[in-house]
Amino acid sequence: MCSILGLFSNSDVAPTIVSSLKKMEYRGYDSVGVAIKNESAIQTKKGVGKVNAVNDQLQMDKIGGHVGIGHTRWATHGGVTAENAHPHMCNTDSIGVVHNGIIENYVELREELERNHNIIFKSSTDTEVIPNLLQIFYEKSHDVKRAIMDTVQKLKGHYAFLALFKSGELVGVRNHEPLIVGVSDNDLVLTSDVVGLPENISSVIYLDNNQFVIIKNNQYKIYNFEGHAAQFAIKTIPKSYQNVSKGSYDHFTIKEIFEQPTTILAAGEGDDNNLEKIVEFIRDSDFVYVTGSGTSYHISVIAKYLFSRFAGKKVEHVMASEMKYSSRYIIPNSTMFAISQSGESADILEAVSIGKKKNAQILSMINSRNSSLARESIFTVGLNCGPEIGVAATKSYTSQMAILYKIADKLCDNCLAIDFNTISDAYSKILSDTSKIKELAKNIKDISNLFVIGRGVHYPNAKEGALKIKEITYVHAEGIAGGELKHGPLALMDSSTYVIVINPFDDSYVDNISSIHEIKSREAKIIGISNKYDPSYDYWIEIPTIREELYPLLEIIPLQLIAYYLAIERGIDPDYPKNLAKSVTVK
Ligand code: AGP
Ligand code: GLU
Repeated sequence: MCSILGLFSNSDVAPTIVSSLKKMEYRGYDSVGVAIKNESAIQTKKGVGKVNAVNDQLQMDKIGGHVGIGHTRWATHGGVTAENAHPHMCNTDSIGVVHNGIIENYVELREELERNHNIIFKSSTDTEVIPNLLQIFYEKSHDVKRAIMDTVQKLKGHYAFLALFKSGELVGVRNHEPLIVGVSDNDLVLTSDVVGLPENISSVIYLDNNQFVIIKNNQYKIYNFEGHAAQFAIKTIPKSYQNVSKGSYDHFTIKEIFEQPTTILAAGEGDDNNLEKIVEFIRDSDFVYVTGSGTSYHISVIAKYLFSRFAGKKVEHVMASEMKYSSRYIIPNSTMFAISQSGESADILEAVSIGKKKNAQILSMINSRNSSLARESIFTVGLNCGPEIGVAATKSYTSQMAILYKIADKLCDNCLAIDFNTISDAYSKILSDTSKIKELAKNIKDISNLFVIGRGVHYPNAKEGALKIKEITYVHAEGIAGGELKHGPLALMDSSTYVIVINPFDDSYVDNISSIHEIKSREAKIIGISNKYDPSYDYWIEIPTIREELYPLLEIIPLQLIAYYLAIERGIDPDYPKNLAKSVTVK
């Protein structure tokens, strides 16, 4: 959640900090702020709203100075107000801090600072204890490194923070939240995400947990929390991660939906070595747990259908946030396959650490190959779909599913013989004419409920379609297994209700037609996503005919498009849905 950015340079840093924050805004966007050190002081500007709006109002990018920090917030503690926006200064205004994560023991630390040091707090965040602890410890030792080591001893929780000292030091501290150091001859940057790197920096160091970096002028030193110099490697970031733009599209979400004819091919081609290892592990395992959150959890459910149907594997899907409550039943020494676009979701990292306690072998499928989850895994398969900026996962979902199909295919000795070119062509066909979906979105723009039904392997897609609709249109949507309608949801159907039916011509078709009749008897309207027409459809969204087992890869595209165009009709910016953020690094 939230992005933190620190920069040291030979020239003024504020314009680059603001443009990097803009690029990382998808991580959190309720408020924004910067603090820049000039000759005599640290100057702070912050406000509620998105980066461009606040910058237009406050001209954050006009502050002069060669070292500074910035933040876009996704509030966890304290309302969305200018006072609670970061950076937060210590009481003497000599240290500014931006923070990603949660300080779990902030209440007791706050009381202690008020009681013993007369600190006056100006915000209601958990963050503000950090600059004040740094101040107290720095006043004692006059040593930045010592002050950091003393401060982290006091903090509980998962966090990364940057501190800017009036004496000129820029510090980055990592404890279970991502933090990356970007290095070049003239500039040094600290960032939550490689997407935030200024364009001239492509060499990076991924800080490990419990490490911190001190930047003074153009020198940097990396230490562990015990104060010993740390080992590190410098890696190069592909250009695609640094020059992310919407191009000619109105939103990242629709750009990423339209990238799928290409990204599905990249998923089909990439990463064979690691994939082979993962296949071997799954083949040799008696029991496989598949876990993820949100969209990545829906992929875990699909994994169960594919691995059990095509390879006879015993698979259980567990929602990452529920792993803690299932831990008692986890079979020791099993395999855990963790799915995550970002590789940084706190829930998936916790699920994996629970698995490790039960001696599970951790395998993963991740888009960000240098993420925390990758470091926790024995083998990782990448998605190769490039950075995904839209908060709603789209291209990463179809890439994840493509890789599941590849694994299933290898497990069953090529019984699926998938040709990803056919899938890519089918995507292009669906995307070449979106007029029907746009018209549908216009007609249903005022609805307050939408149901999506699917059976068997299509059920997780029904859940995923409903999640997309909820997330970016704010219409209440529910994904339902078709057979369950009569066990409750039918009570909700009347002439104002619309039901999307995922209805490819496969073994679920006949049962779906029965469900459709039950729904129509209650006068609700049917939106059929199918390769086969049926007169019961009020709207028919046609998908191409392909090999029967592969429809899950196809039917999700119209659902993504319905969600996107419905968001547009309802006047919602789909890239920045309210209350959400792309990478959920808090529990
Ligand atoms: C998807 O549209 C959502 N934004 C969300 O459910 C997401 O899939 C979830 O937070 C998991 O993220 P991850 O794949 O990066 O771990
Ligand atoms: N806990 C801090 C706050 O609420 C930081 C939240 C974040 O990671 O965005 O301000």
